[in-house]
Amino acid sequence: MASRHIRPRRLRSTPLLRNLVAESEVRAGHLIYPLFVDETLRTPAAIRSMPGQFRWPLERVGGVAARARRLGVPGVILFGVPRRKDPLGSGAYDPRGVIQRAIPRLRRAAPGLAVITDVCLCEYTSHGHCGLVKGGKILNDPTLDFYARVAVSHAEAGATLVAPSGMMDHQVAAIRRGLDDAGFPETPILSYAAKYASAFYGPFREAAGSRPAWGDRRGHQMDPRNWREAIREVSLDLEEGADMVMVKPAMPCLDVIARVKDTLRVPVAAFQVSGEYAMLRAAQRWGGPDVVRESLGAIRRAGADLILSYFALDAARR
Ligand code: PBG
Ligand code: ZN
Repeated sequence: MASRHIRPRRLRSTPLLRNLVAESEVRAGHLIYPLFVDETLRTPAAIRSMPGQFRWPLERVGGVAARARRLGVPGVILFGVPRRKDPLGSGAYDPRGVIQRAIPRLRRAAPGLAVITDVCLCEYTSHGHCGLVKGGKILNDPTLDFYARVAVSHAEAGATLVAPSGMMDHQVAAIRRGLDDAGFPETPILSYAAKYASAFYGPFREAAGSRPAWGDRRGHQMDPRNWREAIREVSLDLEEGADMVMVKPAMPCLDVIARVKDTLRVPVAAFQVSGEYAMLRAAQRWGGPDVVRESLGAIRRAGADLILSYFALDAARR
């Protein structure tokens, strides 16, 4: 039986003592803000499934970036909503595409802000899939060249970091080679290495209009029942040259974040996704702003260095 001298409550009795022994913390510098850029808009459009979040017109993204920078948020990750979609997702690698036009605006409005781009095709393909499609199948290897072209076009526009999210095998190697050959050997890759086929992406697909026209993404995104496979996926991406790895979604995968961090000891990001945001917004009505603090804190405690979160600006403000 524990001695009566031992009193864990002693260190909880004042804020000073609690702060002295806090094991983890969330600062603005740990947060990345996801930003939807919609080239069809002239004014911001509220996202119905994500109260408090907007799709932004090109003319306004600079202002949002400057606000993030002022609040001490070190980066944004961009998602594009193009005017037109086609089977090859050509808007994704068009030098005049929505992301390629957004990047210089962001760089001008907020020098020193990291501009991260999501590298995938699903927002740009008419069928809503992350790769080329033939006979009802998503083709792996023919998609890789397209991802490399997307990444290079983002680097040419001035992206700080590219973040491939398509979960095709060997995508990191293809993108690394593409960037190196195009003269961008120093552009780092943040790989969505352990990206699960999650129902928590629902609001995002509503916001970005990227819901697949048929089928689902279970043929390439990970099965939520698995964690060992996440270690394998992350290891492979690191071998292919990923500089940082991501686990996504975040709260349903705290065990995965912890195991990836403990096993591989590389920079780990976690994406608190759209469905988590929607769920936590509902919880905030009764739990107040601490709901956000606690959820972001849990992700940091699990081992994430960076958190991509729609709460980034709100959290940085406090
Ligand atoms: C795909 C992508 C998705 C998200 C980020 N990148 C959606 C998907 O895989 O269908 C989800 C982000 C979120 O839910 O907040 N480019
Ligand atoms: Zn995709």
